[in-house]
Amino acid sequence: MRLPKTYGLNQAYLLLLAHSALASHRAEAGSEGEGRLPVPKRELEWGDANFLAISDTHGWLLGHQHATWPEPNYSGDYGDLASFVTHMREIAASKGSDLLLVDCGDHHDGSGLVSSSPSGANRADEIFHQLEFDVATIGNHELYSYEVARVVHEQAKGLGGRYLTSNVNITVPGRDGVWESVPIGERYRKFKTPQGRKVTAFGVIFDFQAHDLNLTIQSPTLMSQEPWFLETLRDAPDYFVLAGHMPVRGQGADWTPVYDAIRAQHPDVPIFIFGGHTHVRDCAQYDDRSIAVVPGRYLETATFVSSDLPGKSDSGDPLNINRRYIDANRVSYQFHTHTNHSTFDTPLGQNITSNLVHLATALNISTPLGHAPIDLYLARYPYGHRRSALTVWTNEVLPATVVDEERRGRRIIIGNTGSLRFDLFAGRFDKNDELTISPFKSRFWYTRLPASFALTLTPEMNRAGASKLLPASFNASDGRGTTVDRERMMYEDDLSVRREYDRWLADQREAYEAEYHALEGDEGARSGQVVLGRTKGLTPGYVTRDACKGKGDDIEHIPLPHSLSQPDFSQTPLEHGEEDEIIDVVVMDFALDDFMTAVHTLHPGSELSKKDFKPYAEGTSIDTLWGAYAGMKW
Ligand SMILES: *[C@@H]1O[C@H](CO)[C@@H](O)[C@H](O)[C@H]1NC(C)=O
Ligand SMILES: *[C@@H]1O[C@H](CO)[C@@H](O)[C@H](O)[C@H]1NC(C)=O
Ligand SMILES: *[C@@H]1O[C@H](CO)[C@@H](O)[C@H](O)[C@H]1NC(C)=O
Ligand SMILES: *[C@@H]1O[C@H](CO)[C@@H](O)[C@H](O)[C@H]1NC(C)=O
Ligand SMILES: *[C@@H]1O[C@H](CO)[C@@H](O)[C@H](O)[C@H]1NC(C)=O
Ligand SMILES: *[C@@H]1O[C@H](CO)[C@@H](O)[C@H](O)[C@H]1NC(C)=O
Ligand SMILES: *[C@@H]1O[C@H](CO)[C@@H](O)[C@H](O)[C@H]1NC(C)=O
Ligand SMILES: [Zn+2]
Ligand SMILES: [Zn+2]
Repeated sequence: MRLPKTYGLNQAYLLLLAHSALASHRAEAGSEGEGRLPVPKRELEWGDANFLAISDTHGWLLGHQHATWPEPNYSGDYGDLASFVTHMREIAASKGSDLLLVDCGDHHDGSGLVSSSPSGANRADEIFHQLEFDVATIGNHELYSYEVARVVHEQAKGLGGRYLTSNVNITVPGRDGVWESVPIGERYRKFKTPQGRKVTAFGVIFDFQAHDLNLTIQSPTLMSQEPWFLETLRDAPDYFVLAGHMPVRGQGADWTPVYDAIRAQHPDVPIFIFGGHTHVRDCAQYDDRSIAVVPGRYLETATFVSSDLPGKSDSGDPLNINRRYIDANRVSYQFHTHTNHSTFDTPLGQNITSNLVHLATALNISTPLGHAPIDLYLARYPYGHRRSALTVWTNEVLPATVVDEERRGRRIIIGNTGSLRFDLFAGRFDKNDELTISPFKSRFWYTRLPASFALTLTPEMNRAGASKLLPASFNASDGRGTTVDRERMMYEDDLSVRREYDRWLADQREAYEAEYHALEGDEGARSGQVVLGRTKGLTPGYVTRDACKGKGDDIEHIPLPHSLSQPDFSQTPLEHGEEDEIIDVVVMDFALDDFMTAVHTLHPGSELSKKDFKPYAEGTSIDTLWGAYAGMKW
């Protein structure tokens, strides 16, 4: 990486050091040898209006750094994205068209950059906004904590009215000390593009209830009836841009009221809708003059949307609208901008990359904790398989790292499987990986029960399922504002998003195997390995089947194996001994409610209550267990 000229010698030296750390990290991912990555085959279809959209970055601004597929495909960092955007804007200008950049929220809670400390998250947001978005909006992960939302509100003031929160307010002290409710960003943005097109934009979020005190979210339905909203719609722009933190179809997609309100006044004006929150690649068209896409997650995808615009004498014909899910890496970026390794980087892109590397160093998240011997997957294999992260977590990590020196007798530990939320790849394992896999600060509690009874509880908990996944169980007046409750709400939201994402991946794999089955008969479909072996030249990754016409994925992939047989709760093995011996039953605090429900289902007369639990292995929380294990075994 070449250094920007503005740096002095000492800074340059520091940067070199930092860069060589990143370079060695990335060499592992093969992004040094960009040759390993598949090259796109189709040029983009440019239109009069063009967009690049991302969403749900959750702090993955350093890109994906491991060598196991499909990670290298997403190895572009945020600086690379900035270089890509700069070139794409130039290409648009040379074609006499526009390229607008859109983000749909959820910057916080995720990789080590944003999960290691609040100041890290704030700094990551500042770097995020070094790249100028035309329209950006907020996600639920910016709304669990008043303090986080307040910082976002302050930062939004410096973004030139481009950060839109049409249905989210924050209560802050006003000029004369009186508290007042104000939009976190702006409610709308009306602007002219470089090519002189008039745009009206809004930023909305689904009717999210689990937010902190002194934040207000209006449902999209109520928002779309507001006088200010209807007034803003009145004069027709060349097109509308809606950025929103919600899916574009199915459960939770709440675009209809907003879309209907616009269509009631402007039946023919194009509407470009960008969603988020579900972490998938998705697309739907509500009519032939609009498109609604979800651009994926974790800086894995940069989604390109293009459309022609109605001419002066509008014949009312359908618009030619396209979407393309571009794998976020330098090879794809260079292909689509006709640049190469030496012409691709821009000063802004390099500056952003070095700022990110500095931040990672300052946060101490790049320090290696060990070297993982094999890949462990969250969901490629069923629970019980030796390559399942959950199996290793339950059978080895918990027993080795959750130890109470005062209590060395027989015990079991029952935990939520959702406390793991990313694959753990072979090779270098650092603090960033640890926080990415498990950022939650859940702690441990124990009670005393007969072994034979204790062993019936996890199966019962799994039979009942995790109650906290049901939205109905959320109680808005209940304890909001404490750190533990906030963590818990986040955890629950995380889990329900992941369920949808998992379903999406499993569907891809099922469809693929069914297709192969039809082509090749039983033999072809017998095992994933056979299928993979027979498909020449394709690498593993996303295989999107959305509701828009044509192929959305920029690069053709084979879907990853995916197993949905993952329990909600797991339990560590119990050493042999007497069946009715009274043992320690250790429960992770997020699992405690479901544990109590299981006790009372199996034993209705039981007087056991949460009061009968005492802290176990005090000071141990689940966010540091893999690191501790790595220190012992790797
Ligand atoms: C949001 O803030 C605006 C401007 O202060 C105010 O008029 C409006 O009532 C607030 N909306 C809600 C839902 O609190
Ligand atoms: C919420 O606002 C009220 C004033 O309306 C204030 O007294 C209170 O401290 C605020 N709570 C938080 C969590 O900021
Ligand atoms: C990269 O592109 C530039 C400009 O087109 C060209 O001069 C140069 O030779 C290329 N470099 C490589 C390594 O292909
Ligand atoms: C590069 O980053 C530094 C640190 O954030 C910032 O002060 C500077 O303005 C940036 N320069 C450019 C060209 O973006
Ligand atoms: C950085 O992290 C490593 C591993 O967690 C730790 O050993 C070291 O003391 C930390 N250094 C600082 C300065 O915090
Ligand atoms: C919600 O929590 C409050 C305070 O703990 C409690 O009084 C109320 O009954 C709960 N509501 C529901 C529906 O569980
Ligand atoms: C990633 O790159 C590998 C290696 O070329 C390829 O096999 C795989 O399909 C790619 N996956 C994605 C998601 O881009
Ligand atoms: Zn998200
Ligand atoms: Zn979200």
